[in-house]
Amino acid sequence: MRQAGRSLPEYRRVREGTSMLAACATPDLVVEITMQPVRRYSTDAAIFFSDIVVPLKAIGVGLDIVPGVGPVVDSPIRDASGVASLRPIEPGDVPYVTESVQSLVKELDGVPLIGFAGGPFTLASYLIEGGPSKNHDRTKAMMYGEPELWHELMDRLTTITLAFLRIQVAAGASAIQLFDSWVGAVAPVDYRTYVLPHTSKIFAGLADLNVPRIHFGVGTGELLGLMGEAGADVVGVDWRVPLDEAALRVGAGKALQGNLDPAVLFAPWDVVEPRARDVLERGRVAEGHVFNLGHGVLPSTDPDQLARLADFVHEASAR
Ligand code: CP3
Repeated sequence: MRQAGRSLPEYRRVREGTSMLAACATPDLVVEITMQPVRRYSTDAAIFFSDIVVPLKAIGVGLDIVPGVGPVVDSPIRDASGVASLRPIEPGDVPYVTESVQSLVKELDGVPLIGFAGGPFTLASYLIEGGPSKNHDRTKAMMYGEPELWHELMDRLTTITLAFLRIQVAAGASAIQLFDSWVGAVAPVDYRTYVLPHTSKIFAGLADLNVPRIHFGVGTGELLGLMGEAGADVVGVDWRVPLDEAALRVGAGKALQGNLDPAVLFAPWDVVEPRARDVLERGRVAEGHVFNLGHGVLPSTDPDQLARLADFVHEASAR
């Protein structure tokens, strides 16, 4: 997840003097940063070093990632001409993504690479609000007040996202994850009307590639059933719903991913271990379980604590 590397001194060292978006467009850096947590923790998969706003930047949206803030958009999109400015993405827009994925697949030597993209609600929120938002006021104002414009925006983001994910798989990514991080802000009835048609299109549009598709959001306890319906193979769960309960909500035929509270890692190991064990035990109820945190690693996390957790999960799963 986001910021997995930020807790690592080796990440901070290689990022010194290079902005986040410049780093994402520099294959040598992308390869090095993607490899860092794999080397340190022997994780079972690698998450591509990039960001959800990279494809938007690549099609000409003026934006930056501001340290300590997140993505900030120069001219927020709030009307038809703004929506019309979002054009489809092509492989030639992101040659550094293709090159980085290809190099990584060689470097990873069999460890699967997870490609990713932002979910349409989350991208729409950054574009409409112009930056991070607590209540997504303007986003919901468009969703409820101008539904036609909303669906046009979501259609365009869906086209971009689907193409961007297919570019990563074509280059060699062996799984994909859709991060609709902030979609937990909408009620189930609104998810069905304003979001589900678009996320369903993304997952259906990836079906022929035969790679596992993971779907994640934060605060999505009430949406887990709908997120399962959207068509992913794996539903990511944050730490708010225990996995045995999540399995019931998501429904049969899906694996789960998650869901240790990232903040548990600030407690001593004798607190972390039973919590991690509990996640593994509840995860056995699901038809498959990918152990993970319930959201990104918090930047001040002790890397040694994460190493201990990775070792513990490997040993427990082997048993
Ligand atoms: O963890 C990784 O390095 C994997 C690559 C990755 C990043 N962003 C790199 C990143 C992934 C998978 C993301 C996804 C992402 N980006 C999401 C969805 C996942 C989630 O966390 O919910 C979201 C919502 C974003 C948008 C974004 N980008 C935010 C909110 C921030 C943090 C801003 C801050 O400084 O607090 C970013 C920046 C970002 N993306 C960083 C990293 C490593 C930190 C950059 C830095 O070093 O300052």
